[in-house]
Amino acid sequence: MNFLNTVEKDILNKFKENNIPLDEVKLLTSGKKELGDYQINDAMKLTKILHKSPREIAEELVKCLEETEYFKDINIAGAGFINLRFKDELLTEYVEKVIKSSTKDVEKLESDRIIIDYGGANIAKTLHVGHLRSANIGEALKRLARHLGKEVIADVHFGDIGRQSGMVIYEIKERYPNLNYFSGKEETTWDELPITGKDLEEIYPTASIKAKENEEIMEKVREITAELESGKNKGYVALWNKIKELSTKDIKSIYKELNTDFDLWEGESDAYPYIKETLDTMEKSGYLIESEGAKIVEVIEDDDKAPMPPLVVIKSNGATLYATRELATITSRMKRFNPKEIWYIVDMRQGLYFEQVFRASYKTGLVSKDTVLEYYGFGTMNGTDGKPFKTRDGNAATLKSLIQSVKEEILTHMNKDMDNKEEISEKIAIAAIKYADFLPNRTTDYIFEPSKFIDVEGKTGPYILYNTIRMKSILNKANDMGIDYSNYYNKPTDTEKEIILLLMEKNNILHKAYNNKDLSSIADYLYNLTSLFSRFYEANHILTESDEKVRESWLTLTKLVKETNEELLDILAIEVPEKM
Ligand code: ARG
Repeated sequence: MNFLNTVEKDILNKFKENNIPLDEVKLLTSGKKELGDYQINDAMKLTKILHKSPREIAEELVKCLEETEYFKDINIAGAGFINLRFKDELLTEYVEKVIKSSTKDVEKLESDRIIIDYGGANIAKTLHVGHLRSANIGEALKRLARHLGKEVIADVHFGDIGRQSGMVIYEIKERYPNLNYFSGKEETTWDELPITGKDLEEIYPTASIKAKENEEIMEKVREITAELESGKNKGYVALWNKIKELSTKDIKSIYKELNTDFDLWEGESDAYPYIKETLDTMEKSGYLIESEGAKIVEVIEDDDKAPMPPLVVIKSNGATLYATRELATITSRMKRFNPKEIWYIVDMRQGLYFEQVFRASYKTGLVSKDTVLEYYGFGTMNGTDGKPFKTRDGNAATLKSLIQSVKEEILTHMNKDMDNKEEISEKIAIAAIKYADFLPNRTTDYIFEPSKFIDVEGKTGPYILYNTIRMKSILNKANDMGIDYSNYYNKPTDTEKEIILLLMEKNNILHKAYNNKDLSSIADYLYNLTSLFSRFYEANHILTESDEKVRESWLTLTKLVKETNEELLDILAIEVPEKM
C-alpha cells in the first residue's frame, strides 16, 4: 500500500481505538511551512458530535497522533488546527524504500478492462493539427491507466469508409481510367497503385473541392461510395483496400514519431459485420422508430436544458452513417472484449454527438447500465489569431509539418558538431510539443508558440529533459567512480525534506490525473519536482562532496528524483534523449 495512505489508515485506526468517530483522515499539505508540513483539521467537525470545544478535541487527537510514532513537532494552532511533521528518519527511510520497491509507492486500482478510443485518423486524409491532442491525451491516459493497474485496449478507430472514400476513388478514376479496378469485372490480380502516400495528401483535397463545386461530380461520388459500401463493386473494394494500406503506413509512421501506439488498428468499416445484430437489438427494444423514412432514436430527457435532437441511425435512403458504425462498433467491442468502460478522446465538437450515441446505446440495451461510456473532449491548439493553427496558405497544418517546424527551430540552437543531431532534435521537439499540450487543462484551448515551447529555461518539455539528463549524468559519473548509492545516512536539510515530501505526493498526483482524465497535474508536478531539485543541485556539489555519507545520501536522492521523472515522462509518452 502507498505510504501516505498507510499513514492515514493508521491514524484513523488509532482514532477509532480511542472512540473518535471519524470515517476518514486526510493529511493536508500545509501552506504554512513554519507551523508544520501537514495539517489535520478534523477537530472542528467533531465538536457537535462530541459536545466539546475544538481545542479539547484537538488535544485528544494529538495524543493519538503521538502514539502512532510517525510525527514530530505536533502542535495546535488557532481554535484547533493540528500541525505536524514526519520524523526525519521516516523521510530518509522513505527514499531508500521506494528506490528498492517495484511498485514505486503507487497505489493500484481494481484491474477492470477499459477500451480507449483515440487517434481517430482518417484514411486517405493527412493527419493534421486537429489530431494532435487526441493522440497525446489518449496515449498518456492509456499509459496512466495501465500504470495504475487497469487493463487497457487502445483502438485507433480509423475513419476508413464514407464520403472521403468515394471522393478519392472518383479522382483516381479520373486520372487513371485504364486501371483494371475500373473494368467492372472481378480480376484475379489487381493493378499496382500508381500513386504514393505523398500523392494522397493532395488527391483528397482536390477531389473534395471539385465535388463541392459541381453537383454532378458529387452525385458520382455518392454512387461510388454506395457501391463501395455495399461491396457490390469489387474493383472499388480492391482499390480502397490498397489505398487503406498505403495511407495506414503513413499514419503509423507519424503516430510512431509521437510515441503513440494502438493495440487495435481497426476502423469504422470493421463494424459492418455487427450492423445487423446492432439494429436487431435496437429494434427489439422498441426505441428504434421510423421518422420520415429514416430510423431514429429519441434521446431527449425531461431535464434537458439544451437541445437534444434524435440520433439518426439509418438514413431515409436506407444508407448507414457514422453513427450506425459507431453503434455497431460498440456491439463489436462488448461482444469481443466485454469492457467495463469505453472512453472516447475526441475533440469538443463531437460532444453532443457522443451524448446522443451513449443515450441511444443505454436506452436500446446495446450496453447495460453498469457499462461506463465516457466522452473526454479537449480544447484546440490555436494560432496567435485564436483560431485552430493553420499554415501560411490557410490550411490546417499537417502534423508532419508541425513537428518538422519545431524540430528545425531546435536544430538552430544545437551544437553543430553533435552526433545524432536528427534523432535528438526530434525527441526534444516531441517533448516540447507534448509537454505544452498537457500543461493547460484538457478542456482549455492554447496557442502554438514554438519558441516558448522549446525554451530550456521555461516551464517546458526541454527544461525537464535537460535536467533529467543532468541527473542521469551525475549518477553515471558516480558509477564510473565506483560509488555505490542506495542509502540515506544524513539528517536531511530543509531543501532535501522539501524534495522528499514532494516525492511522497506523486501517488496523489497520479490518481488526481486519472480521476479528472487530465494530465496537467502531472505536467505541473514534473516541473515543480524538477525545479526544486535543480535548486538543490545548484546549491550543492554532489559529486565532490567530501563527506562520503553525505555524498551517498545525495546520490540516493538524485536517483529517486531521476526515476520519478522517468516514470512520469513515460506516462506522458515523452522520451528522454541520451544528451542534448
Ligand atoms: N475519424 C473521426 C474524425 O476525424 C474521429 C473518430 C473518433 N472516434 C469515434 N469512435 N467516433 O472526426
